[in-house]
Amino acid sequence: MIKPDGVQRGLVGKIIARFEEKGLKLEALKFLRPSECLLHQHYAEHQGKSFFEPLVKYIQSGPVVPMVWQGPDAVKIARTLIGSTNPSQSPPGTIRGDMAVQTQKNLIHGSDSVTSAEREIDLWFDNKELIGWDRDG
Ligand code: CMP
Repeated sequence: MIKPDGVQRGLVGKIIARFEEKGLKLEALKFLRPSECLLHQHYAEHQGKSFFEPLVKYIQSGPVVPMVWQGPDAVKIARTLIGSTNPSQSPPGTIRGDMAVQTQKNLIHGSDSVTSAEREIDLWFDNKELIGWDRDG
């Protein structure tokens, strides 16, 4: 999910290009203002942490771009492309290493495992919104 800072800074195209250039396949994408309820579910594992409420408020501050990318080892590859949560620990060449300086406004969220990806895809998308390249063979 491209976060509000990615949208506000006009980096949506650049971020999407990183995934396309790598060779991942776009399975779904939309542009929306997420509800507080959706964000509480999305970030449920962080509930109770000091940054939880500011994070939810921040992600609601503008539209975001949830996406589904498909490919071999897509979760691992996406995390490598994105870099570490703290941009100061993200090497050059990663999205956060090249374009972000703040831990909260770190441009993009990526699922941390296949299980999380499946849960998050279910939260953000209806099954019919997925293109289903595999279904086409
Ligand atoms: P994300 O990958 O979306 O997962 C949880 C988010 O919480 C993370 O990126 C950051 O935006 C935010 N986050 C994690 N740790 C902190 C922190 N220590 N301070 C502020 N925000 C944080």
